[in-house]
Amino acid sequence: MTSLKELVLEQVRKYHREQEPGNFVPGVTPILSSGAVLDEDDRAAFVEAALDMRIAAGPSARRFESAFAAYFKLRKAHLVNSGSSANLLALTALTSPKLGEARLRPGDEVVTVAAGFPTTVNPILQNGLIPVFVDVELGTYNTTAERVAEAISPRTRAIMIAHTLGNPFPVAEIADLATEHDLFLVEDNCDAVGSTYQGRLTGTFGDLSTVSFYPAHHLTAGEGGCVLTGSLELARIVESLRDWGRDCWCEPGTDNTCLKRFDYQLGTLPAGYDHKYVYSHIGYNLKATDTQGALVLSQLRRLPEFVEARRRNFRRLYEGLADLPGLLLPEATPGSDPSWFGFPISVRPDAPFTRQELVAQLEDRKIGTRRLFAGNLTRHPAYQDAPCRIVGDLANSDFVTEHTFWIGVYPGITTEMADFVVDTVRSFATGRH
Ligand SMILES: Cc1ncc(COP(=O)(O)O)c(C=O)c1O
Repeated sequence: MTSLKELVLEQVRKYHREQEPGNFVPGVTPILSSGAVLDEDDRAAFVEAALDMRIAAGPSARRFESAFAAYFKLRKAHLVNSGSSANLLALTALTSPKLGEARLRPGDEVVTVAAGFPTTVNPILQNGLIPVFVDVELGTYNTTAERVAEAISPRTRAIMIAHTLGNPFPVAEIADLATEHDLFLVEDNCDAVGSTYQGRLTGTFGDLSTVSFYPAHHLTAGEGGCVLTGSLELARIVESLRDWGRDCWCEPGTDNTCLKRFDYQLGTLPAGYDHKYVYSHIGYNLKATDTQGALVLSQLRRLPEFVEARRRNFRRLYEGLADLPGLLLPEATPGSDPSWFGFPISVRPDAPFTRQELVAQLEDRKIGTRRLFAGNLTRHPAYQDAPCRIVGDLANSDFVTEHTFWIGVYPGITTEMADFVVDTVRSFATGRH
C-alpha cells in the first residue's frame, strides 16, 4: 500500500514539473549569472527531510559528508552553514592549541590575494593574524607561486587563497612552497568544485579546503558549505570548533561513543565531569540542518553533469568572443582544467567602449553581470584600518576593480542563451547595437 508520505512526495514531484520554466525569449527571459539547478529528485529529497522533521543535522548530513569526502578521496568532510563559515573554521583550526608549537598565533602572517571574495581573507583578521596581500595576473585572475614566494617572511605561517571563479591557482607549486617553508595551506575551493590542476582535483592539495553551497555554486544546499581535510587531527579540531568547541565527538542525540563519558579529567574540572559538556576550543555553532544535507546529497548525483555543462558554456562563450578586439578573455591557468564558476571579461583601457557601457548593454538585455567580487579588497571601507602587509603593488587588482566583470556559465544556461550572450557582446563591441 502506498504510504501517505509517498503520496505527498508524488504530488511534490508533480508540482515540480508544473514549475518548469517556459521557452527562452531573448532580451526578455533573464539569463542569470548563476543560480541553482534543481530537479524533482532534489525537491522531493528536501521535502522528505522536512516531512520527517529532520530539522537539525542528521543522517543526510552525515551521508553527504562521507560521499563528498569520498569524491575528493579525502578522509573527512564537515558540512557547515556557509562557505564563509567553512573558511572561518578552516583557518581557526590552525590556531588550535591541540597543534602545540605548530599553531598560528596572533600577529602571525597569512599570505593571501588582494582581489577576491572578502571571506577568504576575513578569518585571517578575525583570528588576530595579519593578511599579506599579493597581486593577481590578468586573464587567469590568480596569483603566481613567484608572488607568493616573494611575500613569505619569518612571520609567515600559512597561505590561504581561493581558486578564482573556478580557475585553479598554481596550487601544486604553492603547495610545494608551503612544504618548503613549513607553512599550512588552505584552499578556498568554494568556486571550483570539479576543477583539476595537473590532473588532480583542487581542494586536495591543501591541509584544509573549503566549499560553498550557496545557490550560485556548483552544488547547492540553499545556504551551506563544507570543510575538507585529509588529516584526522585537523578534522577533529574543525568538528570541535563547528560544534560549540566541545571535546566530545558523539553525534548529536547519541551518548558515550568513546565509552569514557564519565572517566575524563580535563582542564581543572572535577574528575568524571560529563564529557559531553567539556570544551577544548573557544568554538562556534556553524552546523547545517538535515534539510540542507538532504538537498546537497541529492545534488551530488549530478555533479559530473554540472561540471561538464559549465565547461561547455565556457567554451561556447569563448569561441564566440575570441576574435573581438577590446576584450581580455579568461585564460585557464596552465596545467589546469577549470570547472568554471563564471566567465570573466576585462575591457581593455584602449577599447572604444568602457566596462560600464558594455555591462549596461548586457543588463539592458537581461543578461546578468557580476563584479570580480570585491576587486581590490584593500580599497573597501572595512579594510582601511585593518592591519596588513602588501607585497609589490596591487596594479592588477586595481585594474580588475576598474575593468573586469563576469557573466554566467552555470548549467541553467542553454546553448541558445549562450549564443544570445555572444551576439549581444559582438554587436556591442563591433558597434552594431
Ligand atoms: C571564493 C569564495 N569564498 C567564499 C565564499 C563564501 O561562501 P558563502 O556565500 O557560502 O558564505 C564565496 C561566495 O561566493 C566565494 O566566492
